[in-house]
Amino acid sequence: MHENVIFFWSGTGNCLDMAKNIAKAMGGADLVSLRKKPEVTDVRGAKRVGFVFPCHGGGAPVDFLEHAKLLQVSPESYVFGISQSASYPGIGLNDLNRIIPLDYWKAVTHQCTCIWLFPHQLMVPLMTPKMAQKRSEKLSKKIAADVLAGKKTEKAEPSRFFLNAAENKGWPTILKLKAKGFKVSDKCIGCGQCAKICPRENIEIRGGKAHIGTNCINCLGCLQYCPTGAISLGKVTDKREHYYNKNVSIQELTSAELEVR
Ligand SMILES: Cc1cc2nc3c(=O)[nH]c(=O)nc-3n(C[C@H](O)[C@H](O)[C@H](O)COP(=O)(O)O)c2cc1C
Repeated sequence: MHENVIFFWSGTGNCLDMAKNIAKAMGGADLVSLRKKPEVTDVRGAKRVGFVFPCHGGGAPVDFLEHAKLLQVSPESYVFGISQSASYPGIGLNDLNRIIPLDYWKAVTHQCTCIWLFPHQLMVPLMTPKMAQKRSEKLSKKIAADVLAGKKTEKAEPSRFFLNAAENKGWPTILKLKAKGFKVSDKCIGCGQCAKICPRENIEIRGGKAHIGTNCINCLGCLQYCPTGAISLGKVTDKREHYYNKNVSIQELTSAELEVR
């Protein structure tokens, strides 16, 4: 195991891109996916342990937190957490901090991948997609420098906004409702890419067409990466430009582990 280990959860690549960039700027790291049950859980030998994950519905994706509970991290390790969102960080860092105490945390924004709600260009602060990516890369270097310097975040805990907590409490219900709304059109060529990407193995190819079940975490990878634009969620997603982070390949997104050197 490398002395630096970064756990990531990413639906459409923004967080994995940032995890890769932080790892590179740190001089290397092993990246371990928390999209599914992690293949590596005991990282007590690591000097630095990081987490990069998105905000979903006011908090961290539920699977991310469940999988983080399986990890063994040494109290001697330096632990950092990075939450990505389109506008507000939510309570994901608080929840992670209660599972694995964090020495350092940062909330950063990037393009909005929740295109049933907002177009991907909408983020806070407002900027172009090119600027957002540049900013993410610059912030990754800053985070890596802070981590290497062993910087500690001074506040006892990231701020926990009650409205985000309320939103996050209702999120599982929204997920269930949303899961029923996926449609696969005749544009589907049955290529199986969506099934490969789905972290919950919720998609099957039957009769040459994708069938989406209800065990969905709403990462939107299936919809955003579909090469023919056959998947929709509500009326608006067909009208909006689809988005995923182009610096991350499907191979990387679906890997259990990645080495960055
Ligand atoms: C289903 C869903 C819910 C989201 N909820 C929030 C939210 O509550 N607040 C926010 O600011 N961003 C929200 N986002 C935006 C993501 O946190 C952001 O786009 C992130 O960069 C996505 O990372 P990824 O590409 O690694 O999955 C949401 C995105 C998705 C797909």
